[in-house]
Amino acid sequence: MDFPDLIARKRDGKSLRDDDWRRVAAAAADWAAEPETAPVPAYQLSALLMAAYLRGLQYREVLALTRAVAASGERLEWPGIERPLVDKHSTGGVGDKLSLIVVPLLAACGAAVPKLSGRALGHTGGTLDKLESIPGLRLDYEPAELGRLLRDNGCFIAGHSAELAPADAALYHLRDVTATVDSPPLVVASILGKKLAAGAQAFVIDVKTGAGALFRSRRTCERLARRLVRVSGDCGRRCVCLLSSMDQPLGNAVGNAVEVEEALDVLEGRGPADVRGLALELAARGLKSAGLAASITTARESATTRLDDGAAREVFARMITAQGGDLEAFTERESAGVVSREIAAPRSGYLRRLDARRIGRLTMLLGAGRRTVADAVDPAAGVRLLAKRGERLEEGQVLAVLQTSRPARLDAAARAFAESVGIGDDKPTPRDLIHRVVD
Ligand code: URA
Repeated sequence: MDFPDLIARKRDGKSLRDDDWRRVAAAAADWAAEPETAPVPAYQLSALLMAAYLRGLQYREVLALTRAVAASGERLEWPGIERPLVDKHSTGGVGDKLSLIVVPLLAACGAAVPKLSGRALGHTGGTLDKLESIPGLRLDYEPAELGRLLRDNGCFIAGHSAELAPADAALYHLRDVTATVDSPPLVVASILGKKLAAGAQAFVIDVKTGAGALFRSRRTCERLARRLVRVSGDCGRRCVCLLSSMDQPLGNAVGNAVEVEEALDVLEGRGPADVRGLALELAARGLKSAGLAASITTARESATTRLDDGAAREVFARMITAQGGDLEAFTERESAGVVSREIAAPRSGYLRRLDARRIGRLTMLLGAGRRTVADAVDPAAGVRLLAKRGERLEEGQVLAVLQTSRPARLDAAARAFAESVGIGDDKPTPRDLIHRVVD
């Protein structure tokens, strides 16, 4: 079948066969390698993505595409690693610094965690951009070097190499510019294609739901979580998903360096309760899923102990040092050239809304993310939230501090912040941070 016939089948709502999806993934990988000369050009891949977005995929097709994405490049193996291999993923949030805590925490509890992460995308931050605010830190490695890091420290956080699941790099890039990112079947194939190629046996996935999430609807997120668990199972892996709220940013820091600071606070026994609570639950679910705890109760006990006795903080420091980072230089860094602006509450009342999506966008505007791939990221750009949803405020009280090395952006960001908050007379009903566990 020619590629246009494949597009037509999907356009007309028919299923594609397993080898059709293998062909799609191979074409995407070819396009990733040589976009100018690839046999299937971007416009055909994009047309297929739009057809898949609109028509959806049968379960069998999702499984086939996931396997094909995983097989589109090299697959990492971890010979000599005896600990259970666990991977952690998030569908993307605002203020989501959980990988910086959960990865070393899982390792401190006996798991091996080969964590490959991404960069800021849209309104959501990227773990690699956050980590790069630590001077000297290296994120690109050859597989043999990753194996050494994993053996020596129990974990690493590094960037994806172009050779790992290259079909996903191409498809994700095209989805990003063709309004086809928020498609549950394409998200399943994207996340699990990469996770399968990275070689862990168990996955713990934080599926964000609400205003700042990829999918706002809880029902869509539940369906997505069930698919992630089922496809993982059919690929011989264990997967547990937590549905967690992303209506307001997680914690009090949004940005790059400020989020690393907050992660360190949590690793040192301080920090916001929501970040600590979700980090502990993700770690506990990951431990249980990897067979490192007999029950969720013992998994929680083990995660809490290793966070509170400083073991996770020690693993974090070891991991950063092994990857060339200088934590001392990070904590003692100068704030020369960084400007900040306090944002005051315009009236008294209860903070009823702190819109995660808008705050994510304005943090990117301050310089924490990129408008094009070539943009440089400002490590100092960020927002410190001094109040969260449900808190009582007095007029004039400082709600947040915006900071950036690009002063020209402060006015627009301050205006955007004003639109991100809602203050009212009635105390809002509290919302759960963790909605559901799907396994
Ligand atoms: N994260 C991914 O890795 N892929 C998606 O498609 C969405 C979130």
